[in-house]
Amino acid sequence: MSTTHNLRVDGARLWSTIMETARFGATPAGGINRLTLSQEDGQVRDWFRDACEAAGLEVRVDALGTQFALRRGRDMTRLPVACGSHLDTQPTGGKFDGILGTLAGLEVMRALNDAGIETEAPLLLVNWTNEEGSRYAPAMMASAAYAGEFTVEDIHSRRDAAGIAVKQALEAIGYLGDEPVGERRIGAFVELHIEQGPILEAEATTIGVVEGGQGIAWFDGVVTGFESHAGTTPMPRRRDALNGFAEIALAVERIAHAHGPTAVATIGEAVIGAPSRNVIPGRIRFTLDVRDPKAETLDAVESELRAELDAIAGRRKLTIELTRIWRKEPVPFDAGVVGAVEAATRGLGFSHRRMVSGAGHDACNIAALAPTAMIFVPCRDGISHNEAESATQGDCTAGADVLLQTLLTLANAPVRAG
Ligand code: GLV
Ligand code: MN
Ligand code: MN
Repeated sequence: MSTTHNLRVDGARLWSTIMETARFGATPAGGINRLTLSQEDGQVRDWFRDACEAAGLEVRVDALGTQFALRRGRDMTRLPVACGSHLDTQPTGGKFDGILGTLAGLEVMRALNDAGIETEAPLLLVNWTNEEGSRYAPAMMASAAYAGEFTVEDIHSRRDAAGIAVKQALEAIGYLGDEPVGERRIGAFVELHIEQGPILEAEATTIGVVEGGQGIAWFDGVVTGFESHAGTTPMPRRRDALNGFAEIALAVERIAHAHGPTAVATIGEAVIGAPSRNVIPGRIRFTLDVRDPKAETLDAVESELRAELDAIAGRRKLTIELTRIWRKEPVPFDAGVVGAVEAATRGLGFSHRRMVSGAGHDACNIAALAPTAMIFVPCRDGISHNEAESATQGDCTAGADVLLQTLLTLANAPVRAG
């Protein structure tokens, strides 16, 4: 197997697939709007299936639309060593979030084909449905169901803002597959991704060896006041939901700061119930995303915030409801796979550091089922979830080479006796 150490991906080919698929949902500002299960998502999925089949992979789709592309190994009794990520984007997403890891997996398969290499264990490339969580909550929905956190029926019945259920959306683009969710077993999982934060670039480091993912808690909130006339209601008599919400937003920021520098909290959506210029807002619906590497900090932020909400509601005669709709505990990755990523990185001579992921990833769900780790590469100014998201061809190639070498190590490792 010594020849495989010299094997490299074709960085130019990887780059051209990233640019080619960026046309599905391309925005005028140079980003991508490819919400999960949209027509554009259907188009990129069709492209991906065709490209995988052209690379000799056997493609199957599960009942949540996740695409699995298998490259046979010499020993088909071994569980496949898997890689992949997602091809859906945020509404104002970039060209790299999820896409790099998925298309780098394709590039790995092509490079192995070109070199005529057969691995011992089979390899599996995965495009997980709805990693982003923008159209349907929660994020990383299909990999969570795959890991047994949700039933397929539960996920199928979730609706987007327009009332379209997941099952209906899958049918609309022809991706309600026949493979039972979770039936396919995997031996290990490695996900390449842009860092989506500023650390690697600031330190001029090429590879992040990711040791785990931080915890995430998602909430839905509703502030209820009383709608009344903007011209006739004296200030002291108002029960203005928007002003109550303004206090909530500042309380969220203050509490996250108090648990800094690790804790982060974001109100990404806030909507006035029936907005009108001359009506005092009676209802605000909002979302809240809280993250920290420690579960205890998530607990503390939540309980401090609930106390603040009670105080705001009392003072302003409002009703404030806050419902936790999802919580993902912090996830440590597998020491063996983290070590394999680090060894591959060293072997390739790239600068590297260990780190914890700030973003959620499908790998965090798969870690419950199989030994898992991630590889990060820098992105420009640490910007992600933005149309300006950018990464260099050199860093994408470096990440794909680390992925290739890590997969080779895992797929060719001797089977342990017993
Ligand atoms: C997924 O993109 C996340 O919210 O971390
Ligand atoms: Mn992603
Ligand atoms: Mn994302």
